[in-house]
Amino acid sequence: MVFAIEPLNKGHDRKSFQCGQADLDDWFQRRASQDDKRNVARVFVACDDKHGVIGFYSLSSFTLTIDDLPEEIGRKLPRYEAIPAALIGRLARDIRVRGRGIGELLLADAVGRIISAGRTLAVFAIVVEAKDAAASAFYEGFGFRPFPQHPRRLFLLTSTASTAVERL
Ligand SMILES: CC(C)(COP(=O)(O)OP(=O)(O)OC[C@H]1O[C@@H](n2cnc3c(N)ncnc32)[C@H](O)[C@@H]1OP(=O)(O)O)[C@@H](O)C(=O)NCCC(=O)NCCS
Repeated sequence: MVFAIEPLNKGHDRKSFQCGQADLDDWFQRRASQDDKRNVARVFVACDDKHGVIGFYSLSSFTLTIDDLPEEIGRKLPRYEAIPAALIGRLARDIRVRGRGIGELLLADAVGRIISAGRTLAVFAIVVEAKDAAASAFYEGFGFRPFPQHPRRLFLLTSTASTAVERL
């Protein structure tokens, strides 16, 4: 099977994509391309030669405040107004490939891209938005932790992610 994750382009057929969350499908089908053009999100698409488009994720820069972070992390940081982060705003795989590791591959690819970008533009933490408890559980399985005051938003320190990747 040929599998690739690549930047969204006009050749990707998004019309039949279904992940089980109507708002995510709608965003991907109708707004992803506009968001990308306007530089508010970069969108990456997973395809294989059997199903076509089977997943996507979006990346944006993001900022945190020290107060967003757990106290034991925040107290080690300089008291800057904004702490730089990267947001995986949306991530989904098609229901046709549910439970086959595509979500994990998308997340690993997104984290890898953020680590690479972080060599040029500092990124303290990787932030994800979980739609529901199942999505939170998925991210927690990879070491993401919920923000104390925002349980559906989770983070992973870039330093932790880089160490994990170096060990692979
Ligand atoms: C969340 C989502 C991306 C997971 O994708 P997937 O391809 O089904 O998951 P994978 O097969 O890659 O699973 C990877 C690991 O996460 C675990 N996992 C997957 N879904 C899980 C869930 N709902 N709860 C707990 N763990 C979960 C798997 O058991 C697996 O762990 P293992 O390797 O120890 O067995 C997928 O369910 C999805 O697209 N959901 C709809 C959109 C959504 O909610 N996106 C996230 C918020 S934007």
